[in-house]
Parts: sequence; C-alpha cells; structure tokens
Amino acid sequence: MHKIALITGVSREMGLGYETAKQLKVLGFEVIITARDLEVARKLADSLGVSARQLDVSSDQSVGALANGLQTAFGRLDVLINNAGSYFDQGANPLTTDMAFVIEAFDTNLLGAWRMIQAFYPLLIKSDQPRIVNVSSGAGSFGDPVFGLAHHFSKVPVYGITKLALNGLTVKMATQFKEEKIKINEVDPGFTATYPGTEQWGARPVSEGAKGIVWAATLPQDGPSGGFFRDGKSLSW
Ligand SMILES: NC(=O)c1ccc[n+]([C@@H]2O[C@H](COP(=O)([O-])OP(=O)(O)OC[C@H]3O[C@@H](n4cnc5c(N)ncnc54)[C@H](OP(=O)(O)O)[C@@H]3O)[C@@H](O)[C@H]2O)c1
Repeated sequence: MHKIALITGVSREMGLGYETAKQLKVLGFEVIITARDLEVARKLADSLGVSARQLDVSSDQSVGALANGLQTAFGRLDVLINNAGSYFDQGANPLTTDMAFVIEAFDTNLLGAWRMIQAFYPLLIKSDQPRIVNVSSGAGSFGDPVFGLAHHFSKVPVYGITKLALNGLTVKMATQFKEEKIKINEVDPGFTATYPGTEQWGARPVSEGAKGIVWAATLPQDGPSGGFFRDGKSLSW
C-alpha cells in the first residue's frame, strides 16, 4: 500500500514543493500536490505523474474542503508537508511595515500550517507512521549565523518572525503529540536556488534543499520529533 503525502504551496517547477514531490514519488509515495491555482497545480502534477488539488492555506473553507475530499478519497494521510510560505520582505523596515501585510504573512506562514495540522489530524492519526514537516528557515532562528534573526545580512523582519512563530508551533504540537505516533519537525532547506539568479549568491540546488524535507517526511519510528533540522542535522533554534 502506497503511503500518501500531501504538499502545500506547489505552484512552480523551480520550487521546493515540486522537487519534494518528485523525490517522494521516486520513493513510492502517492503524492498530492496543492496550489491556490488548481490549473497550475494540475500542469505540474501531470509532469510528475502525481495528483493535484486546490488549496489556499489562508482559507478555512479551502483547507476544510481538502480535508473532506481526502477523507472521502483515502481515509488517511501519512505525510503532511507544510511548504507554503511567502512574504519575503527583503529590506523592509519593521517600524514602517504595513500591518495588513504582517497579518497576511502570519495568516499564511504560521496559521496556514496550524489550520492544516488541525484539519488533517483526524486523517494523520489513521496512519501507521504519520509525519508532519513544517518548512521553516534559518531566518526564523536565533542560531543561524548568516540568516538568523540577530545575525542576518539581509533584512526580512516579517518573514523571519513568521518562521520563528512556526518553529514555536512545531514545538508545541510535538509536545501535544508526545503520546501519539505523529512526528512533527521543522526543516530549514537552507538557501536554495528556487528563483533564477540566486545561485550566484550562493544558493544550492533545489534537489539538495528538498532532501532534508524528504528526510523528515520519512523518519523511522525511533526518529526525532519537535526538532529543527537542515540536511537531517539538528540546528540550534
Ligand atoms: N528558497 C529558499 O532559499 C528557502 C529557504 C528557507 C526556507 N524556504 C521556504 O521553503 C518554502 C518553499 O519556498 P520556495 O523557495 O520553494 O518558493 P515558492 O516556490 O515561491 O514557494 C512558496 C509557495 O507558497 C505558495 N503560497 C503562498 N501563499 C499561499 C497560500 N495562501 N496558500 C497556498 N499556497 C500559498 C506559493 O504559491 P503562489 O504561487 O500561489 O503564490 C508558492 O507555491 C517556503 O515556506 C519558504 O519560506 C525557502
């Protein structure tokens, strides 16, 4: 029986979500990719030989409809990858940031993952080895010496704070799942070339960035939960 993996935020062939889907498919997963624009997701799904669904993680209605759809179609979910994330406010000044932008950023980057976990919990607990991967960033940590909150060379205040909060959500959910089979971890893919031209700034190939996400999605039963990882190695918060 194939394991079923659901990935949010897959709207670009260069993106981490697409590459993660590709790698999980190779491992034999039944992969469902999702995007706000269903036609976009369908085209990408066709090129991978996986299936596509519509999903806006900032919408309770959209999240609920997908959960109902997968409940009917499969009755369970093995892997949830909360990859959707945006609002990279390069160079922004937190003193003057538009609060509407801040609210939208939290609604997607933090609450999107939170909604998904709440909605898909009933399907995840039906799996033998349920795994949740929240795709975070060194920009949301204190420990990353380059991109970290206190050390970064680029300013991404709103993005960084949403990822900091996502890290907190992961820890709290892991505590909640302590007596259950579900493992939930935070993965930083590292600076990854998901946009043209970023290689020249040191971004690594997307195949490398996605490996750590796949690692956390396929953890064995004695694997970690509630941790923060890059390339399968523990990162400092
Ligand atoms: N690339 C890096 O160096 C890097 C480093 C650290 C962490 N990350 C994280 O990795 C993840 C993937 O990023 P990426 O670099 O692969 O870029 P990306 O392709 O732009 O991925 C972001 C995805 O999130 C989707 N999205 C935004 N708002 C959404 C919503 N409300 N509902 C559903 N989907 C939504 C976007 O879809 P639309 O096309 O509809 O906007 C897009 O598909 C993100 O969480 C990012 O923060 C990336």
